Order: sequence, then C-alpha cells, then structure tokens
Amino acid sequence: MRETEGRWRGLDAAGSAVQSPAMSDTPKSAFDPNPPRRNFYGRRHGKTLRQSQKGYLSEDLGELRPRGITVGDNPDRRPIDPAAIFGDDRPIWLEVGFGGGEHMVHMAARYPDIGIIGCEPFINGVAMLLGKIRNAGVTNVSVHPGDARDLMDVLPDASISRAFLNYPDPWPKARHHRRRFVTPEHLIPLARVMKSGAEFRVATDIPDYMRQTLEEVPQAGFDLVGDSPVAWDDWLSTRYEQKALREGRVPHYATFRRKG
Ligand SMILES: C[S@@+](CC[C@H](N)C(=O)[O-])C[C@H]1O[C@@H](n2cnc3c(N)ncnc32)[C@H](O)[C@@H]1O
Repeated sequence: MRETEGRWRGLDAAGSAVQSPAMSDTPKSAFDPNPPRRNFYGRRHGKTLRQSQKGYLSEDLGELRPRGITVGDNPDRRPIDPAAIFGDDRPIWLEVGFGGGEHMVHMAARYPDIGIIGCEPFINGVAMLLGKIRNAGVTNVSVHPGDARDLMDVLPDASISRAFLNYPDPWPKARHHRRRFVTPEHLIPLARVMKSGAEFRVATDIPDYMRQTLEEVPQAGFDLVGDSPVAWDDWLSTRYEQKALREGRVPHYATFRRKG
C-alpha cells in the first residue's frame, strides 16, 4: 500500500490532473476530473490494465455509475434520488471497498430484488468487477469508481438498507489508525445514510482492526448484534480473505444494527 499525503493521487499541487503512466492507460471517462479535496491514502491504480479491462471501463462504467456523486457532476452536493439509480424503490445496499467485486456480484445474484451500490477508488478493482458483472449477467449493481465518502455526502438520510465493509485497509501503524474506515469521519456519514434497524457487516483478519471496530461503530449509533469467527450464511470469501487464510490469519465477522 502506498501513501499519498494530503492530496488525491493524480492531481498536482494546483489540483490539475496529472497523467501517470498507469492513468493514461485508463479511459478518461473512469475518472472524476474534479474530486473533492479530501485525503485518500490508498492506491488508485495498479498494474497496466488488460485490453479487455479497458473495454469494460469505456463501454460499461458510464451506464453503471450512479449520477450526481462527483463534484464535477454535482458541484452543489445536492442530495440524489436513490430511486433513480435502479429505477424503482427497491432496498439499496452499499459495499465499501469492493476490491475485485466477487462479494458484490455474489450478493447481487443471490438477492436480485435489491440494488447494490459499490464504491472502490482502485480502478483495477473496478475493471475486475465490471468483467464479473458481464460474466454473471447481474443487472442490480451500480458502481461508483471512487471514495465512499463522496457517495455518502449526497445520499439522503436513511436511504441504505444494508452495508458491507469487507477486509478494509488495515493501516497497522498506530499513527495511521485514524485513516481506518472505522473512524467518525466515515462512520457518522454511514450512520446518517443507513435506515433505522439496517445491518452493517464488517469482516477483518486484523485483531486490532476488530478492536477498533467494536469500540467505534457503537459510538456512531449502531448496536452490536454479533461478533464471531463464523461467517454469515450468505458470505462469499473475498480475495483478501483468501490471502489472509493462506498467510495463517483468522477471519472475524461483526454485525451491527443502526439504532433507531
Ligand atoms: C484490503 S482491500 C479489500 C478488498 C475487498 N473488500 C476484499 O475483501 O477482497 C480494501 C479496499 O478498500 C478500498 N477503500 C479504501 N478506502 C476506501 C473508501 N474511502 N471508499 C471506498 N473504498 C475504499 C481500497 O481501495 C481497497 O481496494
């Protein structure tokens, strides 16, 4: 994991887009030219995309991304109408940091009557998800190729019926713990957009991450429902979970409910 201090990668000091070699491989439509100025410390680009992946990004992402999320699309940050995303008032679930998208596509196939919005700033992961969406033929998925905070900014109160945080970036050094997703900067907006009684699931293999999760999530307005080494019945193991298992780490799963 590489760090980006202070600014989003891909922007110079004046905020203009900078073309890195990997970025110039990626269709321009995949990027917000004008993201909000907030710190994002993860990776946005990995190795060079395959030709097929570039095709998924240029051909599919435009249709699948929700409108009005980026500052470029919605400079006044007006709340969006979630019913417009899937065309009806079905329940909407949110997956933060879907990685390669296997869990998200599995959930979409298993629950065809709900809609899932996934957020992932790592464009190689977005390309992987788009390939999986094509293969699975699921139509109840929406893809924000960026930071979940930008989506939460413009979601109305109580619009999300379930949220998933699977293997979030661990940020192991103590001085980096404030970068973790399970901090008020992320959890307070998440609590605002979740319906009362909505489930929030967190999976991690890092004991100290689970410690912070069990401490901070209830403070943001959730009740702990369960905390277990046994996964949910409908769980699909993710790439990061497989890596953790190969390396001898033990998964842990926590379930919360939004108070109210
Ligand atoms: C360790 S990976 C896990 C990926 C996947 N969930 C899995 O289990 O294989 C964490 C992912 O969270 C993404 N991420 C980090 N901060 C995020 C944010 N603020 N909004 C959305 N995604 C984020 C990263 O880009 C990264 O792909």
